[in-house]
Amino acid sequence: MSKHASCPIVVLISGRGTNMRVLIEDSRRVPSSYAVAAVYSDKPGVAGLATAAALGVPARALDASKIADRAVYDELLGDAIAQYSPSLVVLAGFMRILSPAFVRRFEGRILNIHPALLPRYPGLHTHRRVLAAGEREHGVTVHYVTAELDGGPRILQAALAIEPEDNESRLAARVQGLEHQVYPVAVRWHCEGRLRYEAGAAWLDSAPLKEPLQLADLNLT
Ligand code: GAR
Repeated sequence: MSKHASCPIVVLISGRGTNMRVLIEDSRRVPSSYAVAAVYSDKPGVAGLATAAALGVPARALDASKIADRAVYDELLGDAIAQYSPSLVVLAGFMRILSPAFVRRFEGRILNIHPALLPRYPGLHTHRRVLAAGEREHGVTVHYVTAELDGGPRILQAALAIEPEDNESRLAARVQGLEHQVYPVAVRWHCEGRLRYEAGAAWLDSAPLKEPLQLADLNLT
């Protein structure tokens, strides 16, 4: 673990883990405000677990197919995560709906990244649905997790214009490029104490965010 353990985070994945990799790499840049203490997957054998292990981060699967009862699974997952006393639980392509009990346990300390401009297109297959609807714009949203699926307070978005060449996989790749830019920013803000969840809202620098910030408006160097 890096010496910046003041904000340990646990990343939850279900697949490739490209966002997870970006966060591990970002956490090792100096100055850093957070450390990735562990990675958990609900599926064994996914590529993201091997990536995390190769980067020296404890990486474990808690196989959801072996534990049918959602409440039991979420309690076990919560116990596993709690060993690391995380300041933040970061969902990075974690394709399970977390129970209200899990969300309460880590209230205000769970971030998710969703491949759409919420509140438009919650749920699955966002790229396909956006193309089918003939939208001109698409993107990504980072938000705090509440018990409402993809409905928690939005923090940061990045948008792109749909291009004539876009198909589902091309669009997914372009949106992922934006994901890799926005997620480290939001995690850093939370771990630096600039961003927090309170009374059902996201607050940045002591003011509630009525609308999510837009990546294009930030002066990031
Ligand atoms: C990302 O595109 C993320 O937005 C999406 O899964 C992908 C994971 O990619 N998450 C969801 O759809 C959550 N509802 P990654 O494993 O390469 O980071």
